[in-house]
Parts: sequence; structure tokens; C-alpha cells
Amino acid sequence: MKISLVTIVLTVACVVSGQIGWNYYQVPSFPYSVELADGFRKEDNSCFRELKATSQRLREATVDIGIIKGKLNALEKKSLRLAVQMVGNQVWSTAKFDETSQQSKEMSYRLEDTKAMVLNLIVYVKEMLANKMEDSNGIDIGRMPSSCTDLALVGHTKSGLYCVMGSKSIETVYCDFTKQMNDSDFQKFLGYVDVKSTPTFFHVQKNASFSFVGVPIPFEIVNANSGRAMNVATGIFTAPRSGTYYFSFAGLAQFQSSSNSADLEIRLFLNDVRIASSYTTKASSWSSTSNDKFNQITLQSTLNLKEGDDVWLEIYSHGIGVSLHDAADWHHTHFTGLLVEEDLV
Ligand SMILES: *[C@@H]1O[C@H](CO)[C@@H](O)[C@H](O)[C@H]1NC(C)=O
Ligand SMILES: *[C@@H]1O[C@H](CO)[C@@H](O)[C@H](O)[C@H]1NC(C)=O
Repeated sequence: MKISLVTIVLTVACVVSGQIGWNYYQVPSFPYSVELADGFRKEDNSCFRELKATSQRLREATVDIGIIKGKLNALEKKSLRLAVQMVGNQVWSTAKFDETSQQSKEMSYRLEDTKAMVLNLIVYVKEMLANKMEDSNGIDIGRMPSSCTDLALVGHTKSGLYCVMGSKSIETVYCDFTKQMNDSDFQKFLGYVDVKSTPTFFHVQKNASFSFVGVPIPFEIVNANSGRAMNVATGIFTAPRSGTYYFSFAGLAQFQSSSNSADLEIRLFLNDVRIASSYTTKASSWSSTSNDKFNQITLQSTLNLKEGDDVWLEIYSHGIGVSLHDAADWHHTHFTGLLVEEDLV
């Protein structure tokens, strides 16, 4: 564009000075080539020469520009390729970065978890150490010890015989604290400990004959009544604690000589349930009707009772003239019971 303007300016200058005419001049093909009309050379003046030189320079410049243009085109193509490559690299590395950052995100979540766990552990260990220092007797396990391991935790260190809490009773164990806790010799079971929170046993007797049917048999003589579980006036034993109880009854049945239907049945009741019966009859071989006949009648029972359960004896039935016999200071009829083992819960 600059070159064309120079040409036009020069041309206009020549025309104005009257040295060239409009007919002899052709506008050069815009913008790179300049052609002069043949007739123009006929003129011989400085303006023409100048114009010719300028034209020559223009040709040269045109060639240069062509070369530059080619180079520019090549450069442009190369740049484009580079740009495409660069964008490609950018996209690839962005993708890679995303992938990596996703992985590192997961990793950082895991690290956070681990960090939280480690912090909890540190707090726990610190608390344990603090407890240990505060209480040289060991740690609080929050319940009664039920094994040598528990005893070790609460602070026992010397081997020996110990009592531990079993499922329903106290147990005696030998703890060897010189052994590892997982060693079979660390704890040796020896047996149960007889613990009775309320000692319970009784031995009662009758001091007179008794023949009432369907009511608990009362007793008059009390030889022992520890724990006062046996009410002699009512004849009802009430279990003070859940556990296993033993009961034994022995009585003497008297069959008067006049008795016709000669039998006697005694029953042991737990609450309203008949637990045991004992039955006796006048011997059929008994020939003399002039004398009374006597037979022993007994009942034994070992019962698991719940606290508050009632146990008593009753005459269920008897023939006419038949009674559970006793007399002053004869002690024919007995009832005894005792707590064998108490349930500890
Ligand atoms: C007890 O555990 C320890 C590791 O705590 C082990 O080396 C040993 O063999 C274990 N002993 C028994 C009897 O299992
Ligand atoms: C047993 O009965 C006799 C005669 O009735 C009486 O004297 C005695 O005191 C009674 N014994 C007891 C321990 O109640």
C-alpha cells in the first residue's frame, strides 16, 4: 500500500509538471506490480529516469515481500501446529492432573481417617496412663471381676487363690500372674464358693397329733430356724432367696384299732403345686383289732426355689380314726429343710 502511494505521488508529480501525459501511463496492477507504457521511454528526462529506478526498487521489494509472505505462511503453519500441539498437551496434562488430584483427594480422605484414628488412640492411651497414675490399684472395669484377667486389670499382681464372680455363684480360682494371660495355666478353676446372703435352715417338730385335712401342718417345737424362713405357726416355709433348698419330712402314722379305712397320705406343696406325696396303710396282716398300729411316713425333696416361694406339708386324706401321730416329747413327726446353694445374680 505504501509503495502504491509512492508510485501515485510520483506519477501525479510528473503529470502536473506536463512531462508525461495521461495516455502514456497505466495504473500498475495493485499492489505489487508496476508497468510503464513503451511510448513513455521515448521521453528522455530526469523524471523518467527517477520513475524507472523507483519501479526497479518496487519489483525488488515485491519479490522480497513474496518471500516474506511465504516465510510468514510457513511460520503461520508451524505456529498453528505448535499451538495445536500445545493445546493438546494442555488438555492431556489437565486430564492427567484431574486424575492425579482425584487420587490425591482419596488419599487425603484416607489420611484424614487415619489421622482421626491415631488422635483417638492417643487420647485413649493418655487417659489410660492418667488413670494408671491416679490409681495405682489398676483400672476400673465397671463390674465384679469374673476371671484372673479381670483381677490383673483391677491391679492384682501376686499369684494366689482368688474369688471371682461366676454365672450364678462365686468361684475360687488360682491365678498365676507369672504366666501370660493366654497361657492355660494363667487361671485354674478350683470350685464354687458357698455364699449365703441369708443363712437358711430349720428343724421343727410336732408336739401333738394332727389330723386336719387340706391345711398346712403347723409345728410346735423349733430346734433351729435360722433366717426365720419357717413360720411354725402357719407351717409355711418362705424362701428368702432364690436357690436350691433341701427338705425332709418324717412322721408317724397312727391307725387306731377302731379305724376302718386305714391309710394316710401326706403331700409336700410348692406354692399350690403338689411336689411329693407319701402314703401308708394299715397292714393287712394286722390281726388284732385291739391295738393301734403305727407306721413311719417320710418325704424328702431338693427344690430350686425363687425368692418368696412357699413350701409346706399337708394331710391330703386319711381314713376314719387315722392321724399324723405325735405326743408330748415323743417327737415322731419331723420336718427339716435347708438352703443348699444360693443363686447369686
Ligand atoms: C501368647 O501370646 C504371645 C503373643 O502375645 C505368643 O507369643 C505366645 O505364643 C502365646 N502363648 C500361647 C500359649 O498361646
Ligand atoms: C409340748 O406339749 C407339752 C404338753 O402339752 C407341753 O407341756 C410342752 O411345753 C410342749 N412343748 C413345747 C416346746 O411347746
